[in-house]
Amino acid sequence: MFRKIKLLISFMLITMLLLVTGCGSVEGDASNDSVEEKEVDHLTIGFSIDSYLIERWQRDTDIFDAKIKELDKDAEVNLQNANGDIETQKQQIKYLIDKKVDVLIIVCIDSDSLSDVVAEAKSAGIPVIAYDRLIKNADVDVYLSFDNEMVGQLMGEALVEAGLPNKKVMMLSGPNEDNNVSLVESGFKKVMSDNDIEIVDVYHAPGWKAEDAATYLSEHLTELEDVDAIMCGNDNIATMVNRTLSEARLTGKVKIVGQDADLEACQRVVEGVQVMTVYKPVEKLAQTAAEYAIALAKGEEIASVTDSMTGTINDGSYDVPYCYLSPIAVTADNMDDTVIATGFHMKDEVYMNVTN
Ligand code: BGC
Repeated sequence: MFRKIKLLISFMLITMLLLVTGCGSVEGDASNDSVEEKEVDHLTIGFSIDSYLIERWQRDTDIFDAKIKELDKDAEVNLQNANGDIETQKQQIKYLIDKKVDVLIIVCIDSDSLSDVVAEAKSAGIPVIAYDRLIKNADVDVYLSFDNEMVGQLMGEALVEAGLPNKKVMMLSGPNEDNNVSLVESGFKKVMSDNDIEIVDVYHAPGWKAEDAATYLSEHLTELEDVDAIMCGNDNIATMVNRTLSEARLTGKVKIVGQDADLEACQRVVEGVQVMTVYKPVEKLAQTAAEYAIALAKGEEIASVTDSMTGTINDGSYDVPYCYLSPIAVTADNMDDTVIATGFHMKDEVYMNVTN
């Protein structure tokens, strides 16, 4: 049982504390000497997530929770799932602000629509971490992700290496609202243009709905006549694309790549049905985010937490602190040394359908 302490902290004291720790800007009405009441018995962390539609997010939040408990056993994570709805996400973030959480972590649905609500959090003194996806024009305290351009580059390079005899590919990508999508696309397009490969069609699945990508593909099967490969925005899309290709008896004729190292994708890779998947060590991302969250919640400087800070990124209006991790291309050749060696998936599950 922890001791419950209630502190009455005057506005003056908060101001002094901010000056000493150097975090946050000292704003506000200096004439306001009203007394603010805050419970400091334990830290509370608000986590707003897009949805659990895609396999990886459960792992992200589970690891985040576990790391928070390891760093501070009394800290509490209040997780809100918006189920892919932008208005719900805004309401849930407002709710977390009203709850006076000590820090907010956000996986945004729409990179362009949260600047107002982030401004509300910041004016309530709550630091904000953009997790995996950048929140535009919002001046978040830190943005944590992978090198998303490199994700696209790795996909492109794997396809070029696998061979594109007709020099034609199609892209079935995620929604434009997700800032990662354009980053991945730019990395991919650069490799295609460097190798004179034509991108015959690009589709953006709304809300990352893989069924929509599959429907689009079945309506455009004729386009596939001389297309060598389909760049799938993630492995969930690749799963549905693979089904559509198999129904059209095009498995193997049209190569596919994806990202996330979903179990089914890893199985396809070792079976030779998918050329590669991009493995993003989300365990490291989630753990780093937990370290930042605790530090920011305590009002510490984030620079004290990590040596992984990569610099800054422009969010459209502000240069924000940016920390990115490297993605890893996974093929049948290095499956054991990557996804399996790190324990991301069990070997017997990945090789389940492979008989030697
Ligand atoms: C992430 C992917 C994920 C996708 C759908 C993207 O922002 O980078 O890893 O598959 O969202 O959730």
